[in-house]
Amino acid sequence: MPSTLPIADPAPDDGLLPTGAGDGAGDRDFGVYLHVPFCRVRCGYCDFNTYTATELRGARQADYAEQAALEVRFAHDVLTASGIAERSASTVFFGGGTPTLLPSADLVAMLDAVHDVFGLADGAEVTTEANPDSVDARYLADLAAAGFTRVSFGMQSAVPHVLRTLERTHDPARVPQVVQWAKDAGLQVSLDLIYGTPGESLADWRASVDAALECGPDHLSAYALIVEDGTKLARQIRRGEVAEPDDDLQADMYELVDDLLTAAGFQWYEVSNWASDEQHRSRHNLAYWLGHDWWGVGPGAHSHVGGVRWWNVKHPAAYAQRVVAGLSPAAGRETLDVATRSLEDVLLKVRIRDGLPVSALHGEGRAAVAGLIADGLVDAKAALHGSVVLTRAGRLLADAVVRRLLADR
Ligand SMILES: C[S@@+](CC[C@H](N)C(=O)[O-])C[C@H]1O[C@@H](n2cnc3c(N)ncnc32)[C@H](O)[C@@H]1O
Ligand code: SF4
Repeated sequence: MPSTLPIADPAPDDGLLPTGAGDGAGDRDFGVYLHVPFCRVRCGYCDFNTYTATELRGARQADYAEQAALEVRFAHDVLTASGIAERSASTVFFGGGTPTLLPSADLVAMLDAVHDVFGLADGAEVTTEANPDSVDARYLADLAAAGFTRVSFGMQSAVPHVLRTLERTHDPARVPQVVQWAKDAGLQVSLDLIYGTPGESLADWRASVDAALECGPDHLSAYALIVEDGTKLARQIRRGEVAEPDDDLQADMYELVDDLLTAAGFQWYEVSNWASDEQHRSRHNLAYWLGHDWWGVGPGAHSHVGGVRWWNVKHPAAYAQRVVAGLSPAAGRETLDVATRSLEDVLLKVRIRDGLPVSALHGEGRAAVAGLIADGLVDAKAALHGSVVLTRAGRLLADAVVRRLLADR
């Protein structure tokens, strides 16, 4: 059995990439992810790499845009010195944390750095995540004027008791308002929802999905609540203060959201993502799932170029120290071997509507497809055309499907 573990490398201070990372780069898109690691308060369920004001150990939000711009320039120098063909950015994504905690001028400065250093491809998609209570009409208009094309709001729920359990601070009535402001500014709009919060009923979930649809978004993401180790929510559940999410109810909720969104004209294109049409799919996220190249800027950000993956130091203070000194902020790096890349291809592509080419499977994995069709988990027609595409039942059991497709690895 081939090894499925990545080969670990030290992350060199100069960031130079190993020979081969640029092979075939011309066939892959290049994206830039900018992580903004700040939140006003930490939601009880969240384990993202983000820091509130008291956790910053001397790092300053006000200095962050400049530090991120330093890494953008460093990225360009590293790619050039590693002999990787120059590509403009097809997509730029600001995630967090809460990018919109920074003044709009800081986000614009970071985008300008990407533009000046790499250039933006024609029709580039430029997205920021935003909390509904951290933007106003002016802020969104400033982003649109500077070249942002898309905003993704963390709505999570429209039901006050669910938002309280999630420790979300925004008033649900603000969501339609911020969506309208974003549309007025000419931005495409996506909404993030979470289902399966303890105490949330199917009727609560229906109300949230209906409320999201009433806002008229172009794109929706619906994530099952994951109880992450080390979070306040995990502690509350361990102490018996809050009930554990119920798997069966979460499955019913997935079916409900898929029904409601499909009836409203949306189409799923990844297990947790629906778009109003093909033009409104998140191209940045698709690039992750399709194994393209991206440079992740910022504390804890992950990058991938041609099978080489690395991740930055997590704390903003450690990050600042390294980028200001002109050193790579990478904390570790791995070079994926051929077997691991093909395994990851299966893991990622099977979750998207365009599917996994049957030709990417071998041995028992390929033989498993017939059984998956018989069990109603894989679409028979798509398989005849050479792709493994999940049915809705398959989407609900995506992890189990992947295990069967990887049976011999
Ligand atoms: C970085 S946040 C989005 C921006 C912003 N900070 C916010 O929360 O509104 C990314 C998204 O991940 C999802 N998320 C975070 N933690 C999660 C968890 N434990 N389970 C399920 N979804 C989660 C939420 O839907 C959230 O909107
Ligand atoms: S606002 Fe978003 S990133 Fe910040 S703690 Fe909450 S879910 Fe996590």
